[in-house]
Amino acid sequence: MTPSDGLTRRGMLMKLGILFNAAVAAILAVPIVRYLLSPVIRERRPGYESWLSLGSLGQFPAGQTRLATYRNPVAGPADGETANIPCWVRNVDGQKFQVFAINCAHLGCPVRWFPQSGLFMCPCHGGAYYSDGSRASGPPERGLFEYRYKVDQGNLLIDAGEMPTTGAPTARLINVSGGRPPCA
Ligand code: FES
Repeated sequence: MTPSDGLTRRGMLMKLGILFNAAVAAILAVPIVRYLLSPVIRERRPGYESWLSLGSLGQFPAGQTRLATYRNPVAGPADGETANIPCWVRNVDGQKFQVFAINCAHLGCPVRWFPQSGLFMCPCHGGAYYSDGSRASGPPERGLFEYRYKVDQGNLLIDAGEMPTTGAPTARLINVSGGRPPCA
């Protein structure tokens, strides 16, 4: 073996190593890029609709809070009943609505509305929320997550494509002010 053979072999191994590392990096980057682009990809999927109807306005009498259900817009046929997502609808005064995620802002247990006390109560650790979704007591550090809504042709629609999380704009507003986010 001559020194030039060694250099050539070393150079080739180096190039192979770089190629291998680049291939591994590309494979690892795919799920990260897909995650980052998921909102765009999801909204372009044929048939995807983020605004979903919860039913006609008549189902939600003024001054009352009622349970409603919608179908997860990104669910597949295999999801079955698990794709039916409940939420609480509050008709504030016949004009304004609030739609709350059913999950407690602490660890996600489903909260229940008690009209007698005017509170949402969480069965897991005793979290409580006022009728406007703001925190009343217990472990939750913030109010209930709230959906954007709009009224269209006598139906109440929510923006179910934007799942309420601490990172969502509506969640931030509740966090900061303790009040309601603006609704469409
Ligand atoms: S999950 Fe509701 S208080 Fe803990």
